[in-house]
Amino acid sequence: MCAHGPFVSLCPFWVAVLWVAAPGCNEPSPVRTEASETPPADPLEGLAPWSDAWVLAHAPRYLEDDAARRSGLEAALENPENLYSRARLGAYGHVERGWDALPEWSPPTAPMTAARAAAFERGERPTLDGLAPIGARRAPKRWEDWRALGERVFFELPLRSEPFWEVALRDPARGEALGVERAPDGSVPGLVVMRDVDGRAAVGITCALCHTARQDVGGVPTLVAGRARRRLDYGRVRLAYYEARGAPIDPVSLRRWRSWGPGRADVLEDVADVPIAIPDLWGLRHERRLAQAGTLRHDSPLALFIRQETQYIQANHHHTRPPRVLMVALSVYLYSLDPPPARASAATPARLARGAELFGTERCARCHENEALAGDRVVEIGQIATDPELATGGARGTGGYRPSPLLRVADAAPYLHHGAVPTLEALFGTDRLEPTYTGGPDGPGPVPGHEFGVSLDDADCAALLAHLETL
Ligand code: HEC
Ligand code: HEC
Repeated sequence: MCAHGPFVSLCPFWVAVLWVAAPGCNEPSPVRTEASETPPADPLEGLAPWSDAWVLAHAPRYLEDDAARRSGLEAALENPENLYSRARLGAYGHVERGWDALPEWSPPTAPMTAARAAAFERGERPTLDGLAPIGARRAPKRWEDWRALGERVFFELPLRSEPFWEVALRDPARGEALGVERAPDGSVPGLVVMRDVDGRAAVGITCALCHTARQDVGGVPTLVAGRARRRLDYGRVRLAYYEARGAPIDPVSLRRWRSWGPGRADVLEDVADVPIAIPDLWGLRHERRLAQAGTLRHDSPLALFIRQETQYIQANHHHTRPPRVLMVALSVYLYSLDPPPARASAATPARLARGAELFGTERCARCHENEALAGDRVVEIGQIATDPELATGGARGTGGYRPSPLLRVADAAPYLHHGAVPTLEALFGTDRLEPTYTGGPDGPGPVPGHEFGVSLDDADCAALLAHLETL
């Protein structure tokens, strides 16, 4: 029956018990020891911050210590007043109530292999054949085992079911045009077949949908994990679904879904329409502020564990929570992501040296300061002067933006939090464009701001751009 360890959710009756406490199905019951005279040794002592061992030493705090989870949440919220923070402060880390009391759920799932995708193309409905939950009876011990488990979570643990993607599966050419990419092996990363809450087979979405992308690496087509899927047009995928069903679309949704464009998604819950550019994920270990508006402080891995747990909870509309051990694994996987090789530059060594000099210290590096070349602090909107909507909005706003990580920035167009600046030349060139921001309630408008490195002469501008290409 439902007998299993603290971290699995294999209960076959989970649907029936979804709305009630589910004893025997999801009770993580860590063994508590009596308080002893001598305080326990600090498990972080002697470990280099952000080393693998240091990251893993945080797992027991998150998995077994309710108070640490709650204080980890509080420490992570840059602005406790925005909706992102308020939703979490109200519901997370209360142990007996709120999200902690939700049933734990790891739904039966399977990757969208070439064979499963072909069945869609033939017009068949998905089946439950071969689906299994991602379980972990015990927390892994070694970094590599955590990472391997996290890789499965990233590609296969659905955030929720979404029917929109079926259109892209039925018509692969159309799917491809909307950014629903195939991996070199013909599978469709980011989509899975899952057993949905009603017990039926459905298409689910995972992290890989927005955070993997195809790229030629050394002439070989490769699926790069962590690369933002900048071709994905989430809005138009939705439109295609409604059109295919002949279903009416209200004018507000129509406008919204058309306005997002590729590479951007409105991931904010319940608020005004603010599409945000999908970021690359390979600099996370070095980033002290997460999200474009710096919504989260990332001084401890607990911040990422909790970010991921609450992302799943919000994605499935607060019906279930994911197994926490899988959130640690997912975070370890994210921390392990490496960028693809940097581009080789055709510029002369002298030009590259001049570019590096221009980038250094005051001009750029005072803000793009850490190893990911991101900023450790949020820059106030008055100083950065880009579009203020996300920075000052109630959803994730903090009053400013975090200096974006710049690793592999040459391949990260379009730029800025809204993804409205098409090229680096448009951001820094002497004939600086007035690019157009197409999102937001007021429709198209010019994108001002980030007035750094814009008044260089032609030679220095070329040197700076050459340097950026090597990052
Ligand atoms: C629908 C597309 C989409 C999906 C699916 C998605 N993300 Fe994201 N992700 C985004 C967008 C857009 C942002 C930027 C949000 C912001 O800045 O507020 C983002 C931001 C992030 C960040 C912060 C990165 C940084 O540099 O600050 C992390 C970490 C992340 N996502 C991890 C994940 C993981 C893990 C999953 C799966 C559980 C996931 N995302 C699923 C679109 C997506
Ligand atoms: C005062 C702090 C500050 C300085 C100085 C600064 N930046 Fe930025 N940078 C930011 C912030 C904040 C953002 C994000 C703004 C946004 O998204 O609206 C950003 C974004 C960027 C982006 C967009 C990256 C992407 O993927 O979207 C690039 C490229 C960039 N900066 C390069 C530079 C260069 C080159 C210099 C020096 C010439 C520089 N920055 C100087 C704060 C700064």
